[in-house]
Amino acid sequence: MIRTKIIATGACVPEQVITNEDLSKIVDTSDEWITTRTGIKERHISKGENTSVLAIGTAKMVMERAKVAPEDVDLVIVASVTPDYGTPTLGCMIQKELGLVNAVAFDVVAACSGFMFAMSVADKYIKTGVYRNAIIIGAETLSKIINWEDRATCVLFGDGSGGAFVEASEEGGILAEELGSKGELWEILTEGHINCANAFNDLKIEDDPEYFVHMDGRSVFKFATKTVVKSVANVLEKVGLTKEDINYVVPHQANSRIIDVVADKLDMDRDKFYMNMDRYGNTSSASVPMALNEMNEKGMIKRGDKILLTGFGGGMTWGTMLIEW
Ligand code: UT7
Repeated sequence: MIRTKIIATGACVPEQVITNEDLSKIVDTSDEWITTRTGIKERHISKGENTSVLAIGTAKMVMERAKVAPEDVDLVIVASVTPDYGTPTLGCMIQKELGLVNAVAFDVVAACSGFMFAMSVADKYIKTGVYRNAIIIGAETLSKIINWEDRATCVLFGDGSGGAFVEASEEGGILAEELGSKGELWEILTEGHINCANAFNDLKIEDDPEYFVHMDGRSVFKFATKTVVKSVANVLEKVGLTKEDINYVVPHQANSRIIDVVADKLDMDRDKFYMNMDRYGNTSSASVPMALNEMNEKGMIKRGDKILLTGFGGGMTWGTMLIEW
């Protein structure tokens, strides 16, 4: 049976590191509040690098690690809520920069669940034999859509990109998945609204207050814990596995308290949940592939390991994917 298997991983972040201490100089907050509520200590913030720079850096790294030639790449899918442009897509910008002349490239939008959505789309093409391989990237420059005067949101997010090279394989790969969306809750987490300013009305693009991230933190917290727990249980049930069969869970790196609740409700060993939000904050669609890449670089993952990737985010959306390494 043909499955979609991760062959290589990679990541790329801006150099500039902003600590909780740095943030306490621009808004009324403290290292103590941010650390105890979120587990975040620092994050990488763009000095001007846009999302394409991070996405291209990651794509280059996964290609080098997978030892694939530019002309042999079939598909590029980027998940992002903060692309450089409405058009072109980040996928097309990667294609040009890396000379992927035979690939088809496009972006998907599913906020922090985006990497799982992009993997799922690639999986369908690969399983059906349409394409043999794909570069899958999650990339964000959230710093450009954050209101830096809103302490409730500006302390949570960071910039970064992570990704994988996947290809058709007879062994391992994606074993099961669940994607979901609950549009009725969309108003609890929004960003990037573009109003209808034009030459024949009084609206002004720059006057749109909804351009910046707006979040009802408590509602998102409730949604996240409930949804992730159910989704993980559903995916395990689909393949007849139990939590004991799982080597690692790579959750969306939003908040360590959410992960504590999820581990507790699933009655799973907290040590199986990989976390690096202390150094990167919440990087939305980039968070799961960045964490997976870090584990891979540390040599933590071995052949045959079963790993759950799981995320939730704006939409509201969620995605859980069980992979065998
Ligand atoms: O990928 C998207 C994922 N998003 C999330 O995962 C967010 C999920 N939600 C959360 O993680 C939490 O709701 C937050 C960390 C965002 C907030 O924690 P909370 O315990 O729900 O705090 P709160 O919003 O209820 O605020 C409690 C207090 C308020 O003060 P008062 O009204 O009690 O006086 C806030 O004004 O904390 C205050 N506060 C802050 N204080 C210091 C809010 N932000 C800050 C801050 N520093 N940065």
